[in-house]
Amino acid sequence: MLLSPALAGTPLTGRAAEAVAGLGEQAVLCDLYDEAGAPVYHDIAGTTPHEVRELLAALRRLPGPVLDLAAGSGRLTFPFLGLGREVTALELSEDMIGLLRERLAATPPSLRGRCTPVRADMSDFALGRRFGAVVLGTTSVSLLPPEARPGLYRCVREHLAPGGRFLITTVEVDPAADGTDESEILAEGQSGRTYRMIEQWSAGATTRTVTMIPAEPPAEGPVTVATTTIGVLPAQRLIAELEQAGYAVRSLTPVPGGGRHHDVLLEAEAL
Ligand SMILES: C[S@@+](CC[C@H](N)C(=O)[O-])C[C@H]1O[C@@H](n2cnc3c(N)ncnc32)[C@H](O)[C@@H]1O
Repeated sequence: MLLSPALAGTPLTGRAAEAVAGLGEQAVLCDLYDEAGAPVYHDIAGTTPHEVRELLAALRRLPGPVLDLAAGSGRLTFPFLGLGREVTALELSEDMIGLLRERLAATPPSLRGRCTPVRADMSDFALGRRFGAVVLGTTSVSLLPPEARPGLYRCVREHLAPGGRFLITTVEVDPAADGTDESEILAEGQSGRTYRMIEQWSAGATTRTVTMIPAEPPAEGPVTVATTTIGVLPAQRLIAELEQAGYAVRSLTPVPGGGRHHDVLLEAEAL
């Protein structure tokens, strides 16, 4: 098994570990957002429309340019551009923003010309302008450790125009759940490839691990296994943090679909 340097020391457990053991020397283990994993993420991103629908509905009520935080390869950026808005897409990973730039290059200038990709850390950025809406979708707030989140809240506040809104999604875990929870679904990518998506979360734990493995690996040759460990930030905790950072949460909308855990969309205003 090959291991990308970012993953050295990351133990896989349960079904994900069994699957990697079964692949033996073929397995190439990488992070879901590094050079090898980014295409896997991009392949499966965009196959769940519910969050996009909710965000577009909210954005239609909010005039002005949009800041898409942790934009990745642009799953949300492109629908936002489709609304006719100017969009700044902020992303930390060079590999992900590279994919976004490639996708933009293939779009008409009328659309491409309204998008500004920026490589930056969402917990510490200064763009020198303000936005009608700042969006942090895909429950990506949970990628930030607790000590980095005050920086995010401060930066967003500094970039919101008067009357602007911070639209942020997070996961609504079941506080009554107990034990270790391992789930597996088959996820079909835009390429037609099918992946086993294995998610592991222990009740009360502050992280969950998601691993993507091709459902039908070739008999020989390398097989990319992309994994990532994501923080779990329950909605009630996020609301408390936002309020402490000087925001008022104006609405909480459940996002249908999205697999085992429910996601919610919060709309917050800086006071
Ligand atoms: C779950 S993906 C979401 C991407 C995109 N919004 C989507 O819906 O497909 C999370 C993204 O956050 C990026 N990311 C992680 N930490 C970040 C940070 N501190 N600042 C900016 N982007 C970050 C990752 O590189 C990844 O592209």
